[in-house]
Amino acid sequence: MKNWIQTFKKEGVVAKQAHYDLPEGTFEREVGKEGFFGPVAHFYHKNMPTGWIDFEGELQPRAFDTNKITDIESSPYKSPIIMHNASIKVRMLKIDESMNHLVSNADGDEMLFIHKGNCEVFCDYGHIKLSEGDYFMLPRCTKWRLEMDELCEILMIECTNAHYQFPDKGLLGPNAIVDPAVIEVPAINKTFKAQQNDNETWTHLIKHRNKMSCQIFPFNPLDAVGWRGNLMPIKLNWRDISPLMSHKYHVPPSAHTTFMGNRFIICTFVPRLFETAEKALKIPFFHNNDDYDEVLFYHMGSFFSRDNIHPGMITYHPQGFTHGPHPGAMKKAFKQDNAMTDEVAVMIDTRDSLEITTELEQTEWKEYVDSWKIKK
Ligand SMILES: [Fe+2]
Repeated sequence: MKNWIQTFKKEGVVAKQAHYDLPEGTFEREVGKEGFFGPVAHFYHKNMPTGWIDFEGELQPRAFDTNKITDIESSPYKSPIIMHNASIKVRMLKIDESMNHLVSNADGDEMLFIHKGNCEVFCDYGHIKLSEGDYFMLPRCTKWRLEMDELCEILMIECTNAHYQFPDKGLLGPNAIVDPAVIEVPAINKTFKAQQNDNETWTHLIKHRNKMSCQIFPFNPLDAVGWRGNLMPIKLNWRDISPLMSHKYHVPPSAHTTFMGNRFIICTFVPRLFETAEKALKIPFFHNNDDYDEVLFYHMGSFFSRDNIHPGMITYHPQGFTHGPHPGAMKKAFKQDNAMTDEVAVMIDTRDSLEITTELEQTEWKEYVDSWKIKK
C-alpha cells in the first residue's frame, strides 16, 4: 500500500460527484496519479481545458496512420517496431503470404490483434484459425507460423521480459467482462497433424534481445501429439467482451482493461450503451493522466470522442498535458444521437514514456494537435 500525501478538500464551486450534474457552464477536468487509481482531483473550468490556440515543443498529442505503412513482410520480426520502451515493443505487421518458417520471441510474451484479414496459426500447441477482431496471446518462446490467402494486418504487442495476465475483476466476479468460457486455445487437430513431416527441413528464427538467431531442423518441430497444463496461447475476440457501463457514471478507460502487461495495460473499447441519466457526462472527461502515455489504435466504427479519425489510425497522448474530447464530440457531451457507441479500439497505456520510431513518424498527421481548435 502506498501512503499517499492526501486528504479530501472542496474549494469553490464543484459537482457533488464526478462526471455528473456539472456546475452550470463548466468543463470538468480530472487530474490523477497512477492511471486514476491514486489520488485524483476534479477541476471545474470556465473554458475548455484543450482550448489552446498554439502549441510548440515536443510534448504534443500526435496521430499516425498505419494505412500508410505499405511494406508487406514475409516474417513477423522483419516488420519494424513503431513504438517502444523497456517494457513493450509495438509492431504493425502486414503479411500476405503463408510463412515458410517458424518464429519465436525469447524477449517476452506476444499479443497479436488481427486488424484485417483471416489467417491460421500453427504453433507448439496446435492449430487455430484467427479472424478480424481476434486477440491471440503467444507465451514467450512459443514457436509459431501463419498461413493465409489474403493480406492480414496485425498489431503485435510484445510484453518485454514479462508475462501477460488478466486484470483483477474484484467485485464483479469471475464471469464479468470476459467470461473464461469464451477463451479458445489451439488444438492438436487433423490440420495440425497433416503439417507434421519428418522429411522436410524447417527453419526456426528466434528473436532474442531484438536480434535474430536461426535454428535448422531436419523435421517439422511442430510435432507434438499432445500437451497438458495451464500454460498456453489464448484467443479472444472483442465481440465476446461484455463491456462495463453505468447509466449514471462515465466508466473510466481502466474499466475496459483486457490484458495486463508489465508497466502497461491493453484495454478494449467495444460498442456499449451510452449513459442514459440526463445529467451524466456521455463522452470521456478532460483529463491529465500524468503518469501514463496513452496510445489508441482505431480498429473499426466511428470514434465518438475524436474528429477526423479512421480505422487503422493511432493516436498518442504522452503523459504531462491535458487532453479530452474534440470540439465536435463536445457538442454531444450530455445528449447523444444514438443509444450505443459504435467504436472498436485497442488502447495501450504505458507507465513509462514511449519512443516513437521513424517508421511510424513517416505516417504522421501533423495537424492533429490543431484538431481541438474550435472552428469559428
Ligand atoms: Fe487520455
